[in-house]
Amino acid sequence: MKLSRLRERLSHAADVCQITQQKIVALDNAPEDRKRLRQFPTVEAAQLLGVSESYLRQITKEGAEFGCGTVIGNNYRRTFTLKELHWILDGLYEKTRDERYRRQRAGTEKLQVIAVANFKGGAAKTTTAIHLSQYLALRGYRALVVDLDSQASLTSLFGLQADTDVQPEETLYPVFRGEADSLAGCIRRTYWPRLDLVPANLSLSQAEFELPVRAQRERNFAFWLVLREAIQKSTMDYDVVILDCPPSLGFMSINAIFAATGVIVPVPPSMIDFVSTGQFFRMCSQVLDQVEEIDPDSKEVDFFRILVAKHNVTDQNQKQIVHLMAANFGDMLLQNPMAVTTALDGAGLRKRTYYEIDDQVGARQSYMRGLAYLNAVNAEIEGLMLKTWERQESDRLLANASAA
Ligand SMILES: Nc1ncnc2c1ncn2[C@@H]1O[C@H](COP(=O)(O)OP(=O)(O)OP(=O)(O)O)[C@@H](O)[C@H]1O
Ligand SMILES: [Mg+2]
Repeated sequence: MKLSRLRERLSHAADVCQITQQKIVALDNAPEDRKRLRQFPTVEAAQLLGVSESYLRQITKEGAEFGCGTVIGNNYRRTFTLKELHWILDGLYEKTRDERYRRQRAGTEKLQVIAVANFKGGAAKTTTAIHLSQYLALRGYRALVVDLDSQASLTSLFGLQADTDVQPEETLYPVFRGEADSLAGCIRRTYWPRLDLVPANLSLSQAEFELPVRAQRERNFAFWLVLREAIQKSTMDYDVVILDCPPSLGFMSINAIFAATGVIVPVPPSMIDFVSTGQFFRMCSQVLDQVEEIDPDSKEVDFFRILVAKHNVTDQNQKQIVHLMAANFGDMLLQNPMAVTTALDGAGLRKRTYYEIDDQVGARQSYMRGLAYLNAVNAEIEGLMLKTWERQESDRLLANASAA
């Protein structure tokens, strides 16, 4: 095929993709189906707040201190919006000063920046990053999730179409070009209370070429610290920032690793993923080595953990690999794996995260099983965060009836 013909075909294919994506987004944004957050039934709400169901019922019934929620059927069944849950949580902390209800970090507790990285494509980085950020917002932390991947999958999970809804200057592009020194211009609110987004689009791939040019042109330009410095200048109002890295160890990922106080590396337990993750670690270590030579004090990470992702728990081969991983990685491995679940299996036409599904496609039991895996992984990462803040692990644990 002649080059000009190939170019035409590629350009046509790109148009088809764009039109199709527009249609999918249009479906999601239809008035009756605009991306918005669902309501949370009492059982789930109690879990997120860390109180018993009976206590929640008591404090939210009509005329009670935190009377809110929407009654469904009889007076015992209520659903809550996330805003209401945050209001109750803040109110409980205000009233009791019990640390279990405190989410906002104190001045002495440093901002957590969690990078989700692995240069293997499809390792579940975006899935891990978006669910972690939504889990933390559900729990009441003020979270910012940053899309560092020019493919913009995370951005599109928020119902945005990267090439029409997001301008290059609304991404990290100006930061990497040196035209902006903070994230202020690219942070946007989402339909999730307490969860903001820095979206991505194709312009970020341009930044990959421009950073090395800047490094050559500007004397003493620390190309690995651009993101860290921008985050430090602009994120006082957040408790945690989550970085979704692209599948490469380019400048975006290097900047993410240097900005991070914690790193999570999702690894599906298959031989191929395992081998390439090994190479990823080797390359990371070489990069750190080189930077350490120039700048010995530049990096401090509170935690670094490998997450077993997309684990098919019934597959014997995978079981063996997970077993080996546990034996060899020791405490570098998160104790809780993330299992494969059909609801997350990218096949869905309308993009919903696990926390957004309300019609619970398929069997409820399998949905709940998937949710338990997801919450266990996220709660473990939340625990690491609290440990860094030197808070009690028990602050996070479900409070029992004694809360009442
Ligand atoms: N636990 C899971 N169960 C089922 N499918 C999953 C699970 N986790 C991730 N997936 C699916 O695997 C595919 C890749 O996941 P994801 O996009 O999160 O990977 P990624 O590492 O961000 O990929 P990329 O390298 O392209 O950025 C997606 O289709 C996603 O829906
Ligand atoms: Mg991704």
